[in-house]
Amino acid sequence: MLPSKTLGLLSVSPLVHCSLNTCRLTPVFSYQQSPAPWNDFRSAGRSNCNIHSTRSSHASAAATSVAYRVGAAFSAKGRRFNTKHDLFSFDPSRQSSERPPFTGRPASGQDAFFISSIANSSSAAFGVADGVGGWDQSGIDSADFSHALCRNLATTAKDHTGEQKLGARDLLSQAFADVVADKDIVGGGSTACVAVGNSTGHLEVANLGDSGFAHFRLNAVHYDSNPQTHAFNTPYQLSIIPPKVLARSRIFGSMPLRDFPEDASVTSHDVRHGDVLVFATDGVWDNLSANELLQIVSRYMAGFQAWQSSDRGTAVGNELARLTKEGGIPKERENSLQTMLAVAITGEAKAASQNSRRDGPFAKEVQKFYPHEEFHGGKVDDICVVVAVVLDASDTGA
Ligand SMILES: *[C@@H]1O[C@H](CO)[C@@H](O)[C@H](O)[C@H]1NC(C)=O
Ligand SMILES: *[C@@H]1O[C@H](CO)[C@@H](O)[C@H](O)[C@H]1NC(C)=O
Ligand SMILES: *[C@@H]1O[C@H](CO)[C@@H](O)[C@H](O)[C@H]1NC(C)=O
Repeated sequence: MLPSKTLGLLSVSPLVHCSLNTCRLTPVFSYQQSPAPWNDFRSAGRSNCNIHSTRSSHASAAATSVAYRVGAAFSAKGRRFNTKHDLFSFDPSRQSSERPPFTGRPASGQDAFFISSIANSSSAAFGVADGVGGWDQSGIDSADFSHALCRNLATTAKDHTGEQKLGARDLLSQAFADVVADKDIVGGGSTACVAVGNSTGHLEVANLGDSGFAHFRLNAVHYDSNPQTHAFNTPYQLSIIPPKVLARSRIFGSMPLRDFPEDASVTSHDVRHGDVLVFATDGVWDNLSANELLQIVSRYMAGFQAWQSSDRGTAVGNELARLTKEGGIPKERENSLQTMLAVAITGEAKAASQNSRRDGPFAKEVQKFYPHEEFHGGKVDDICVVVAVVLDASDTGA
């Protein structure tokens, strides 16, 4: 077992940031019982997703199988974070139910996310993408690319066939190829942070650009990703560059940025019962350090006794399965632990981004690179957060 970094020793690294483009969740998300219609999506939303691993009766005693319970929240810049509306829920076991699939696009700015099971297995895929801005000058909606990418990430995961395992980079490559082939997407770019987790607790993450993720275990930061940037505030990005834009930039002797799924940093992680995974766009990482994220996560995990500390250390509480079920938390909307965590992180990042008296990671970077610039307080950006809580699949919380 790898030692966890402790709270006191936590290194505050510039985390990878994904910007928050909400993905179109087409075939994968379904309505919750609530009336919130998808096409009424406004500034904020949450999703709640249950991906159960089925425990094989042949499983060896040593191999515990895990399930990923996933929630999401987001807030577009310039809009109030509204925790009362725009909730959606995802439960693969009810995917083909009478509920119509979501085919619209939440008004979540250029950030996007996706959550899906892989084929019909207990493996899960999820992540975030942040559309690169500035394409409007070329008559292109900067949000289209990231939303299309996430829609394709979800469908690629869902439709995966064959015995071969789907790696995180393969998933990103296929989804990107589908965006390139999509005639409706003529240009644009996006970062991406994409995870594939399987039922034996193996998690692979492909991260390209300044979105990113952090892995929390028992009151400690177990891992946090590093952003990939070409230069300050210039993340690696997947892109489609229309011929006209390409021609124009040649005249000026510049080349638009263009990175590929092969450039993604791929990391492997072992996850287990009680772990919390946070995937987010740079709207979060620019405003909250890993240490601050841990404080938020710990506050809720401890508050609901999902992490219990005693003289003998910290342990996972007995009620984790129940708390991560829909309705496990007595709230109307954020009614599971993972959704509540996603909402809490989104809300704190939003508050931090609007607090001009506080210098977050982004403001500190600005001061480092441009010491004469007056930049204080948060950077107001789109925010998108996907939270997965890992639990022992044999415990369904029934
Ligand atoms: C998943 O299950 C459904 C219903 O059982 C089936 O129609 C579909 O082909 C399956 N998908 C894959 C990729 O196996
Ligand atoms: C999960 O992934 C790991 C690493 O690729 C692999 O060794 C293991 O067999 C996988 N488990 C399942 C159930 O696919
Ligand atoms: C939020 O981020 C901005 C820059 O992205 C930073 O200036 C601000 O200080 C951050 N707020 C907090 C509370 O960290």
